[in-house]
Amino acid sequence: MAKVLLLNGSPHPNGCTAAALAEVERTLAQEGVETELIQVGSAAIRGCISCGFCMKNGRCVFDDLVNETAKKFEAADGLVVGSPVYYGSPNGTILAFLDRLFYSTPFSKHMKVGAAVVSCRRGGNTASFDVLNKYFTISGMPVASSTYWNQVHGFSAEDVAKDLEGLQTMRNLARNMSFLIRAITAEKQAHGLPLEEHSEFTSFPDGK
Ligand SMILES: Cc1cc2nc3c(=O)[nH]c(=O)nc-3n(C[C@H](O)[C@H](O)[C@H](O)COP(=O)(O)O)c2cc1C
Repeated sequence: MAKVLLLNGSPHPNGCTAAALAEVERTLAQEGVETELIQVGSAAIRGCISCGFCMKNGRCVFDDLVNETAKKFEAADGLVVGSPVYYGSPNGTILAFLDRLFYSTPFSKHMKVGAAVVSCRRGGNTASFDVLNKYFTISGMPVASSTYWNQVHGFSAEDVAKDLEGLQTMRNLARNMSFLIRAITAEKQAHGLPLEEHSEFTSFPDGK
């Protein structure tokens, strides 16, 4: 059975982002996809300190929800990251969490399907959406799309319930994600993963 992990970056477990993620989860369940939601935004998550511990040990030096989630991410076929918009960006907690999760985990994320879901009252959704998608597209993760950018509007879950197009976008996203996971699983079984080259690492250290 396909499995999708969902992260809620909001500190509100029953807020707007949660309402959008719940619509994704409900639809994934209808598609026969197993889901697990991790409430990230209420935890005290510190940022990456670039200490290099993970390069030697394959896990983050701070042994918290990031390391717990890493095992679940490794086992999942897809990842949905939900975030409220704070000053036109994803909220600080989810960014600190994702920096550490993606940087510290040595396993391949290649062809795990990613999707970002954002929630704002008025503005900043698309800029936040773009930031979150960058974690997927540097990791060989195809991004599932929908019939609009994956956003809802509101200040409370009740507002989001009235954002009918936003919720429709979540349902279409979930169906597309489920389709992509099935297609990728079949292709992996038939032909394996596409080759990824990693030999080059250009940083121009000598200024040339
Ligand atoms: C610190 C802070 C900054 C915010 N900045 C924005 C913003 O830039 N644009 C916006 O439309 N809403 C902003 N909001 C409102 C929330 O993004 C919005 O209500 C969101 O849907 C809340 O999601 P949640 O219930 O899942 O936490 C901000 C809220 C907070 C607490």
